[in-house]
Amino acid sequence: MIRFDFSGVTDKLLGGRGIAVSDIEAIVPALACAHETIMAARAKREILFYDLPNDNTMIEGVITLAEQLKGRFKNIVHLGIGGSSLGPKAIFQALKDPLHNISAEPRLFFMDNVDPELMGSILENIDPRETLFTVVSKSGGTAETAAQFMVVYDLLQRTLGKRCHDHLVLITDPEKGILRKLAVADGIASLSIPPEVGGRFSVLTPVGLFPACLLGIDIQAMMAGAGKMAACVLQGDVFKNPAYLYAAVHFLALARGVNISVLMPYSNALYDLADWYRQIWAESIGKRHSLKGKDVYAGQTPVKALGATDQHSQVQLYVEGPFDKIVNIIDVATFRKDVPIPHVFGDTDEMGYLAGKSIAGLIRAEALGTKGALIESGRMTSHISLETIDAGTLGGLFMFFEAATACMGYLLDVNPFDQPGVELGKQITFDLMGRRGYEGKFRSSSPVERMVIEL
Ligand code: PA5
Repeated sequence: MIRFDFSGVTDKLLGGRGIAVSDIEAIVPALACAHETIMAARAKREILFYDLPNDNTMIEGVITLAEQLKGRFKNIVHLGIGGSSLGPKAIFQALKDPLHNISAEPRLFFMDNVDPELMGSILENIDPRETLFTVVSKSGGTAETAAQFMVVYDLLQRTLGKRCHDHLVLITDPEKGILRKLAVADGIASLSIPPEVGGRFSVLTPVGLFPACLLGIDIQAMMAGAGKMAACVLQGDVFKNPAYLYAAVHFLALARGVNISVLMPYSNALYDLADWYRQIWAESIGKRHSLKGKDVYAGQTPVKALGATDQHSQVQLYVEGPFDKIVNIIDVATFRKDVPIPHVFGDTDEMGYLAGKSIAGLIRAEALGTKGALIESGRMTSHISLETIDAGTLGGLFMFFEAATACMGYLLDVNPFDQPGVELGKQITFDLMGRRGYEGKFRSSSPVERMVIEL
């Protein structure tokens, strides 16, 4: 289903700049230590994402609620930000038609920012009487989602009166936070995000599964794919565990100054997966403190790119610029649709060679072309090949990258599951917006205000 080829980072193909198998063997003790940490935390249910595919109660809860609501709404509007929206967005793009919102229902819109124009436009284009709003916040306290929810709640109340609650599903912590309080107090339909699963690891909880299920995506197949991958990425042996290998080559690359990790799918359907990866890799391993509290300023900047489009934007830099990137290419063997290239202009040199081929054949050749050019230029590249894009494969990819991220965090001796930098930004926003208990905490000491130049 999914094949991981890391030959493009090795000394065999890259010479002196490459990683030798003996380099990977040298970090086997560190990998064993990371593995033990993961297994111990998993045994104590502190790390739960590996086990989500076996949580039938959670999966059935999602299916039951989706069944009750299916067919009742023309639109779904998903409120949430960061880990509360990147996963469902990646699922939607990967598994539904690129023009789904034009050609089918229910249409799905993501309010994943507090951009007033985005929000205003979505609200102008939906009828609240025909719309279900999924409100997703693990903490319940994120300002962006709270503000959106207030706008939507008011709109629903004004349009539907008491029936407004029938147009809401709240997805949040099972016990804590304002959303849970409201769900309990007002009897609003809700689903729970397991407390042990952090936002960016939550795609395989109701956060990603519920909107997917409303759109008719086979979430059981997705979880089966994730479960199959979990069995594979829980193995201790790095040479049998593709997620540990992915982490190991990124760790060794980072030690050689490769501080950028590009994820470059050759498929538009997987571009939002690259966006999801950008968050999990950045937020999980970008840390000031080591596990023992020392300043380490760890991290490797994730970048998303799209093949073949970015061959005409980014690849010049990747092939000839600084030796600071590992480019992880994803390509697809069998696309769900293909378009044959007809025999027009067949007698010209410029176009004739394309006649009789297919668009899928061309994009695949472009992926191999970029891989070849990178290797030829001594740049690190790994290659993830998918047989096709379906629910099972996507579930497998989520699990693969989650496991790789956990391992990379522990190899770097940081906690991959916290996000103190994000929390700090949230608190400064609370202060600026006048939330009780946060007044003046940051504003007066912030040097930023003194640096504003008005033009
Ligand atoms: O990964 C994380 O924890 C964050 O990106 C959160 O998902 C994001 O900040 C949104 O938080 P919440 O779901 O609590 O509203």
